[in-house]
Amino acid sequence: MVDLLIIKASQIATLNSVYGVPRIGNEMQELGLIHNGAIAIKDEIIMEVGETNKILSKYDVKNNESVIDASGKLITPGFVDPHTHIIFAGSRENELEMKLKGKTYLEILEDGGGILKSVRATRNASLDTLVQNGTQILDTMLKYGTTTVETKTGYGLTTEDEIKSLKTIRKLNQTHPIDVIATFMGAHAIPPEYKNHPEEYVRLIIKEMIPKVSEMKLAEFCDVFCEEGIFSIEESRRILKTGQKYELIPQIHIDEIVDTNGAQLAAELDVSQAGHLLKSNLKGLKAMAKKKIIATLLPGTPFCLMQNDYAPARSMINLGIPIALSTDLNPNCWTESMQMIITLACYEMGLTPAEALAASTLNSACALKRDNIIGSLEKGKKADINIFDVPNYQFLAYHFGVNLVSKVIKNGKIVVEN
Ligand code: NIG
Ligand code: FE
Repeated sequence: MVDLLIIKASQIATLNSVYGVPRIGNEMQELGLIHNGAIAIKDEIIMEVGETNKILSKYDVKNNESVIDASGKLITPGFVDPHTHIIFAGSRENELEMKLKGKTYLEILEDGGGILKSVRATRNASLDTLVQNGTQILDTMLKYGTTTVETKTGYGLTTEDEIKSLKTIRKLNQTHPIDVIATFMGAHAIPPEYKNHPEEYVRLIIKEMIPKVSEMKLAEFCDVFCEEGIFSIEESRRILKTGQKYELIPQIHIDEIVDTNGAQLAAELDVSQAGHLLKSNLKGLKAMAKKKIIATLLPGTPFCLMQNDYAPARSMINLGIPIALSTDLNPNCWTESMQMIITLACYEMGLTPAEALAASTLNSACALKRDNIIGSLEKGKKADINIFDVPNYQFLAYHFGVNLVSKVIKNGKIVVEN
């Protein structure tokens, strides 16, 4: 007797981890497909995934309401969105016109816009407002099939406002069906009050923020925006190494706008994931491949920056770098939809639909060190499951700009029904 049976799915992409995780190179094409598939779920956990006849011969449910007929539909693991910035107030729709006139991201930031505009709004917002904003974003994410999300702070940039942001994340994780994983990113920008003495801000992060965040057990990861004019390689190294001393797992934003040798640093520090990598040099990428450092690619960002210049995903895969995908949701790049990101990954970065799906599920679970419980549909894993109103996985990239979700199941319960 189980709690829920999903049967007759046209296709189940199990992402079973026969190759060990994460998927690398050609393995990224392997989705572990089952046709006419079924899933048995009990107590929030997957009991078994297999062909419908086999599952129906082994398992039963109490009543008909506990059976979902998924005829003609695609089933995948719930999306894992491993790199976002959802803790902010206000919005930046005005910057679109600036960008259309040719202003660059760093120019907007230098004028006090960009991240700094969001910082002003976030500092002025109460924890309750941030929780409300975050809840709205998570509601939309869930409707679009995301069941686990990592999110960063970085719009507070004072000890108090960073802690307020981290407490917002904790609250969201407690109150929302989505699992929300916290990353401390005090090193997101130099705040205006430290503009003329940035070293003091780095010291504040190292001496005050990180120890406090760690003591209060508010974050699992630590991230830095390592970029020309933001945080240098040396500063990033110091911050992330301090984080490690305080048991915060390092992640990093690298080589988004300029190649600062970020990929080399990502490999040196053995980060759990490195984001962006548009400009990384070959030597750095090879160092990442050697250590199997996950590259989290964020095609929504160059799309919103109108860069027509995306991370070299194909050569990364050929080099043997494991690829994950993420929305990077932030006030510059506001999408909750991993479906949109899968489309961009295929049309703009040349990933195949299978690679894009592996990068949005199993590999993104690896980026968050959660592949033991999520990221694939296998016995013993959490029943975090998407049912899409399409017959196969190619459709996820192909039919774009609309929500293809039919149902989302989180911890074994139906939480979205379209
Ligand atoms: O990952 N690059 C740094 N941080 C974010 C953007 C933040 C913002 O513009 O508000 C990113 O793209
Ligand atoms: Fe980011």
